Amino acid sequence: MVQLDEAKLHSFIGKMLGDLGGAFSVPTVRLGLRLGLFATLDRDEPLTAAGLAAAAGGLTERYVREWALAQAANGYIDYDSRSETFSLSPEQAMIFVNRDSPVYLEGAFDIAAAMIEGEQKVEHAFRTGAGVRWGDSAGCLFCATGAFFRPGYVNNIVQSWLPALQGIEDKLASGAKVADVGCGVGFSTILMAQAYPKSSFVGYDFHEPSVREAQSHARTHGVEGRVKFVAATAKDIKETDFDLVTSFDCLHDMGDPRGCADHMRRILKKDGSWMVVEPVAGDRPEDNMNPVGRLYYNASTMICVPTSLDQEVGEGLGAQAGEAKLSEVIRSGGFKQVKRVVTGPFNMVLEARLSA
Ligand SMILES: C[S@@+](CC[C@H](N)C(=O)[O-])C[C@H]1O[C@@H](n2cnc3c(N)ncnc32)[C@H](O)[C@@H]1O
Repeated sequence: MVQLDEAKLHSFIGKMLGDLGGAFSVPTVRLGLRLGLFATLDRDEPLTAAGLAAAAGGLTERYVREWALAQAANGYIDYDSRSETFSLSPEQAMIFVNRDSPVYLEGAFDIAAAMIEGEQKVEHAFRTGAGVRWGDSAGCLFCATGAFFRPGYVNNIVQSWLPALQGIEDKLASGAKVADVGCGVGFSTILMAQAYPKSSFVGYDFHEPSVREAQSHARTHGVEGRVKFVAATAKDIKETDFDLVTSFDCLHDMGDPRGCADHMRRILKKDGSWMVVEPVAGDRPEDNMNPVGRLYYNASTMICVPTSLDQEVGEGLGAQAGEAKLSEVIRSGGFKQVKRVVTGPFNMVLEARLSA
C-alpha cells in the first residue's frame, strides 16, 4: 500500500485552498470592478456595507455585504470588526483602482474569465489538433488581453524599453516611421505616438474587431492623424522602409513566426530595428516553474497555442518559449544580431538588427 506523507498532504491541501480561493474570487472581483465597489472604497472613508451600497449608486445592501465580506476574506479589502466597516489600503488600490499602476490587475481577472469561457472550444482542439481562432474562444478575449498588458506598457515602453534599443530614441524624437505589428487594440501604438509627436505609426493586426477598437482608442486620445491602424497579417504588410518595427506579446501567437521574421526583414530599412517584446521566460521548462511561468503556461494552453495552431504552419511556440528559441526564430528570418536588452517581471525585450 502507498504510504502517504501526512505533512506533505497537509501542505498541498493548504496550497490548493489558497489557489481555489483565488479562482473563486474571479467573478466577485470582476463584479466589484464593474460596479465601482473598489473605487468607492478608495474614494470614501471606511464604509459599512449599507454605506458602500449607497455610495456605489444605490446597490442592494445584502449583496454588497456578502461581496465585501468575501473581499475581506480574500484580503483584497480591509474589514474593521468593531465598526463593521470596510476600507481599501493604498496598496490594494494599486491593484484594483489605479489604472496606470504597473500592477493594476483588472485585465488579469478578465483573462481568467475569458479562459473559462473558451474551455469547450479548447477541449475540442485538444481532441482534434485543430486551433482556435484568435478572439473566437471568448466574447472579449481581445479586450481582456489589451487590458492585461496595458499597465506594463504604460510604465515601460517609453520609460525603459525603447531607450534600451540602440539609437532608437534619437530617431523617434527627430521623426521615424514605425510599424507596431500584432498591435491588438493599439495601446502600445498610441503610447508611442503620444511620446514621439514627430514620428508616424502604423498598427497592424489580423483581427478586425481589434483594429476597429484601436482606431476608436486613437480618436479618444487625439492621435488619429499620426496613427493608422490596418487589418493585415504580419506577413501581408505592404508598406516598407520602417525605421522601427515593434511586436508586443504576439510573435509567439503567430502560426508562422519564422515567416513573420522574414517579412519584418523586408519591411525594415537596412539600419532598422525590430523590438520583440515577449513574456519573460527561461529557456528550460524547469526555469519557468514559478508564479509568473504558471500564469503564462495556463494562458498559453488556453489562448496562445490554440491561436498559433489555427494559423498556417502552426509553430505553436507558446508563451514560455524563452530567449534562445525566440532568438533562433528571429535569426531564421535573416536578422544578424538578436540580443536581450531588458528583463522585467512579466516581459523581456529582444532587439533584432539586420547588421551586427
Ligand atoms: C496576446 S495579443 C497582444 C496584442 C497587443 N500587442 C497587446 O500587447 O495588447 C496577440 C495579438 O497578435 C495578433 N496576431 C496573432 N497572429 C497574428 C498574425 N499572424 N498576424 C497579425 N497579427 C496576429 C492577435 O490578433 C492579437 O491581437
